[in-house]
Amino acid sequence: MNKMTQADPAVVIDLIEAFRRSKAMFAAVSLGVFDRLAEGPADAKTLASDGDVDAMERLLDACVGLSLLAKEGNLYSNTATARVYLRRSSPQTLAGYVLYSNQILFRLWANLESAVREGSHRWNQTFGFDGPLFSHFFKTDQDMREFLLGMHGFGLLSSPAVAAAFDLSGFRRLVDLGGATGHLAMAARRRYPHLQAAVFDLHRVTEFAREFVPAGEIELIPGDFFTDALPEADLFAVGRILHDWSEPKIVTLLTKIHDRLPPGGGLLIAEKLLEDDRTGPVPAHMQSLNMLICTEGKERTFAEYKALLERAGFARAEPSKTGTPLDAILACKG
Ligand SMILES: C[S@@+](CC[C@H](N)C(=O)[O-])C[C@H]1O[C@@H](n2cnc3c(N)ncnc32)[C@H](O)[C@@H]1O
Repeated sequence: MNKMTQADPAVVIDLIEAFRRSKAMFAAVSLGVFDRLAEGPADAKTLASDGDVDAMERLLDACVGLSLLAKEGNLYSNTATARVYLRRSSPQTLAGYVLYSNQILFRLWANLESAVREGSHRWNQTFGFDGPLFSHFFKTDQDMREFLLGMHGFGLLSSPAVAAAFDLSGFRRLVDLGGATGHLAMAARRRYPHLQAAVFDLHRVTEFAREFVPAGEIELIPGDFFTDALPEADLFAVGRILHDWSEPKIVTLLTKIHDRLPPGGGLLIAEKLLEDDRTGPVPAHMQSLNMLICTEGKERTFAEYKALLERAGFARAEPSKTGTPLDAILACKG
């Protein structure tokens, strides 16, 4: 057998189709299929409302094939996965990230070739947006809401593991910089009830976070981590922050954090780590391309983060692979 006949087309065929599977789920979430089915089983005609019944039936059958719906006779119902993760009102919902992927990321990714050629994000090319990074993510209150709900859903999957990755019992006050809806601060407090915790984020975000944070449990501090003084803490956290920014900005931020910490203070980082030889894992590669199309940053290996931490003055750093969407690093000031 020559090499041509040994080649397996399966991976190519799967990847030709992969975006269709994603988009079918995006459309079903966006059309409210899983929300409607939370009220009870329904047929295609009911779910189509005044839309095309045959087309809706095709989407619903596709969702059955994707294990998102079950079908009995002509009635569809949510699977357990859809009930927990695709229904908008579920506490663990990922619908925010699905909608954000559908409305924003899917369109930005359509310009990946230009991003690779030019090495920069695609906000202007795709949406005609100019200006600082988070003015794009937060263009309207609805955009901000969807983005932060998306972060929250994913955060709930990883934050308990990030908070458990190291022994944090010696720290007294945690400030999560860019902590958004406070899922990491809350996970840390659940594991270490003695810990005081605060979320420091842009003013619009801390206002929005009030919906998520139990009053009195987590302090919400509005501010800009590049331009404002940082609050007092012996443990800072940055979750999915460093991967947003260019290297000079990361070193500026890490140096500012280092200088604000007391001796022995710590910095907990939550990011998806690339393997040392950069051969995987694939979700980290995809996230790095995602950072290319929508931010100034990228994903890194532990060694790359360690080098940045050393430039900022941190004496020690240790990685932990959590097995969840985000890994963890604990860096210590000497
Ligand atoms: C990718 S999100 C990560 C949110 C959260 N840490 C998480 O893991 O869910 C980035 C966060 O950084 C915040 N942010 C961006 N620029 C900021 C700045 N200059 N100062 C403070 N927060 C900022 C955003 O508002 C957003 O909440």
